[in-house]
Amino acid sequence: MTFDAPTFQQNSAKLDIGDIDFDAFKDQPLDAEALRCLRYMHDVESHTVCYLRDVLVTRAHRDPDITAFLTLWNYEEFWHGDAIGKVLAAHDEEAGATRIAELRQRLPKGDRWRPVGFQLASALTPHLTAVQMTWGAVNEWTTQAAYARLAKLADHPTLSILLKRIMKQEGRHIDFYSTEANGRLTNSRAAQRVTRWALRRFWAPVGSGVIEDQEVDFLRTYLFGDPDGLVFAERIDRRVDRLPGLHGLHLLAGAVAA
Ligand SMILES: [Fe+2]
Ligand SMILES: [Fe+2]
Repeated sequence: MTFDAPTFQQNSAKLDIGDIDFDAFKDQPLDAEALRCLRYMHDVESHTVCYLRDVLVTRAHRDPDITAFLTLWNYEEFWHGDAIGKVLAAHDEEAGATRIAELRQRLPKGDRWRPVGFQLASALTPHLTAVQMTWGAVNEWTTQAAYARLAKLADHPTLSILLKRIMKQEGRHIDFYSTEANGRLTNSRAAQRVTRWALRRFWAPVGSGVIEDQEVDFLRTYLFGDPDGLVFAERIDRRVDRLPGLHGLHLLAGAVAA
């Protein structure tokens, strides 16, 4: 669990899809469940810039290491959404700007108040950054596991190559968030208490509150609802357990059981 900022900044790049044969999906299309899953992933990856908005209004923006990472993270996530959009387009599904605009029109009214809520929380506790870094680690662990599960379930050679490349970049995001979370939690019992409370009270699978509830339910059942999926969920919970002060939250197992 280490992160080397200069190496990340040097290696950060637009996802390489130059050799991906998207026409292969026309000859060998994905099934309805895999496509439903990819719609969700497209929408969540494309929503990264909105999550970034909520982080930048907090005290996290004062940390140049965090803002350097977030700049490149947002860029990489954009291209993840774009690549998944190309898979959807190969199935004659709507993707890209039109789909993203529709999603943002459907966001709950409360979304406009999220930056205000984050600003307020940042004023109330100096430990919000620890919460955000830990939250980011859990979401990146979940995202990488979701891609691994989808690759296995869809069992499509072209999709597997694409998802493997995305997962490699998600791995570097994991390194950043988990290193930041670990450092901030190690240094402060108060940060541990605030983060533990926030995760227990507010954490939900990535995409919740943005994507419709029935799609969140579908995704967690489809990807993590069988014994193989549960192994992934429990592995993420063990990683959370290893962060200082966060033992025994069972976030993923709890979400799957729900
Ligand atoms: Fe991503
Ligand atoms: Fe990521």
